[in-house]
Amino acid sequence: MRKLKLEELNRADIETFKAQEKLPVVVILDNVRSMHNVGSIFRTADGFALEKVVLCGITAQPPHREIEKTALGATQSVDWVHFTDTSSAVQSFKQLGYEIIAIEQAENSTMLNTFKPDPTKKYALIFGNEVDGVSDEVMNIIDSCIEIPQFGTKHSFNIVISAGIVFWDFFAKLRL
Ligand SMILES: C[S@@+](CC[C@H](N)C(=O)[O-])C[C@H]1O[C@@H](n2cnc3c(N)ncnc32)[C@H](O)[C@@H]1O
Repeated sequence: MRKLKLEELNRADIETFKAQEKLPVVVILDNVRSMHNVGSIFRTADGFALEKVVLCGITAQPPHREIEKTALGATQSVDWVHFTDTSSAVQSFKQLGYEIIAIEQAENSTMLNTFKPDPTKKYALIFGNEVDGVSDEVMNIIDSCIEIPQFGTKHSFNIVISAGIVFWDFFAKLRL
């Protein structure tokens, strides 16, 4: 099989992308430490045309060389905003009518495969710190929690892998 050349992929330019309809999903990063993870989240959010990336607390902000190593320009296409603390971001998106969902391993969580997104709703999906996960303070103010089932020996997935799995799942269930 012949692999497609870049120009054959027919990607939108940044202006066209900005104007196109987005999946009604924002991603909230709760104190994510690695700038490479932040950049990869931007690139993945671009790929699934998410509305916005919300950077909270210590999560690094563009422009930054280390973020760009993995974002590859997606910090220009995907809208973003920074909040000093994650709880303020959650309250703000709650007021805007978003359903707040932690993507986390928690008691009484809903397994991703059984979750059915409502096409009339807007979602704010919170991903946690590489070591501590989503903070307890934030877990106390969410509407619900989605967990990705795991079948191996490791306790959790890398945050970006989790994001890729969840973004694809929402995209497929809402758009395909
Ligand atoms: C490396 S994990 C954090 C692990 C940490 N030990 C903890 O206590 O949560 C980083 C983030 O990835 C996401 N994540 C990883 N595995 C997950 C899973 N199986 N289900 C849902 N989210 C997951 C969560 O957002 C989590 O906060």
